Amino acid sequence: MSLSGSPADRASVPPVATSATSPIAALDAAPAREPLIEIRNLRVQLPTRDGLVSAIDGIDLTIGRGEIVALVGESGSGKSMTALSIARLLPPAAKVVSGTILLDGVDLLKLTDREMDRVRGSRIAMLFQQPKATLDPTSRVGEQVGETLRFQRHVGRRQAWARSVELLADVGIPEADRRARAYAHQLSGGMAQRVMTAAAISGEPELLIADEPTTALDVTVQAQILRLLTTKVRDHGLSMLLITHDLGIVSTIADRVVVLYAGKVVEDGPTARIINEPNHPYTEALMRSSLLIPLADGRLYAIPGGTPPPGEELVGCRFRARCHYADELGIADRCAAVEPGLHACESDAHHCRCWAVEDGLIQVQPASAGSLP
Ligand SMILES: Nc1ncnc2c1ncn2[C@@H]1O[C@H](COP(=O)(O)OP(=O)(O)OP(=O)(O)O)[C@@H](O)[C@H]1O
Ligand code: SF4
Ligand SMILES: [Mg+2]
Repeated sequence: MSLSGSPADRASVPPVATSATSPIAALDAAPAREPLIEIRNLRVQLPTRDGLVSAIDGIDLTIGRGEIVALVGESGSGKSMTALSIARLLPPAAKVVSGTILLDGVDLLKLTDREMDRVRGSRIAMLFQQPKATLDPTSRVGEQVGETLRFQRHVGRRQAWARSVELLADVGIPEADRRARAYAHQLSGGMAQRVMTAAAISGEPELLIADEPTTALDVTVQAQILRLLTTKVRDHGLSMLLITHDLGIVSTIADRVVVLYAGKVVEDGPTARIINEPNHPYTEALMRSSLLIPLADGRLYAIPGGTPPPGEELVGCRFRARCHYADELGIADRCAAVEPGLHACESDAHHCRCWAVEDGLIQVQPASAGSLP
């Protein structure tokens, strides 16, 4: 299922560079990094009018040291809930019903609130979509950038302020000593996200979680902020979990991509593999819809149907109702009755949750946009 449209089709997502001899297989064979975060069988439920619903339904996800992992999927697939679970910032009503989240082998879900407070800021930092809303409106931004240093590293007020000014300059804020005295309402959205980035890296965390960090910003500053983020992450050797709907960003920034569908991982693997040669029918459809590839009749491709409504009892493959392969391959009954597991594809670096892929019924081969239903 190679996405091999014309160069014009692919304009929004540059193909990811691959080796000349054995392009994508070589990337699959890249040595695994030492894991920093290991999520196993994570299930999170939330109360709704229709009773408890699963926001995350058995997610496995690993983030290596120094690795940038992109989490993608349609709205409601569980991206933010996964991020909030790692930082233990889920809404109060949410309940983790199973699973472990290991940070260097220590289960974050077993830490006391006080222990977790120490982990946040010093080892894990988060960037959210609305930087101005995340900043405290009553405190100068310089104070906020220095908070982790003061309260977690016990650095004195004056020294923390001086370091804040340095950090603000480092994230490209002009006249940092003057801007450090500003309040959130005096900053543009782009400036506020730079301040949040300075605050996030101030405690030298090992993991940065960025949940759509540029979505709320003016398009003209989105690229600058992403460049800044990537530079800081790479310079400081951090790991990053990046949540975004923008596959152009994913293709240029991420080392690996994890695809969520209705609270489950359906495919994960090296970025080149997922962008250029996705195996799962949902990943393929997601790529096509994001790439704005015109169909034979000129219409833009949109994934047919919708995600299962929250609370619906899910049996078999969750993508079944939207998957044309199941009928074409004559395996619809099996797909509807039994849920496929997440199995290794060509290597341990690439996994997929699909009967047709597991049984070798779908050949990974170039497919034109026009052939889609
Ligand atoms: N506060 C909440 N109360 C009840 N259900 C919620 C709450 N927040 C999220 N959910 C549900 O949990 C599921 C996962 O939501 P989540 O916010 O993780 O999705 P997402 O992938 O981040 O989507 P988006 O791309 O829109 O941000 C969805 O079904 C959503 O409706
Ligand atoms: S398991 Fe069946 S329905 Fe699900 S994605 Fe694969 S072919 Fe489609
Ligand atoms: Mg979200």
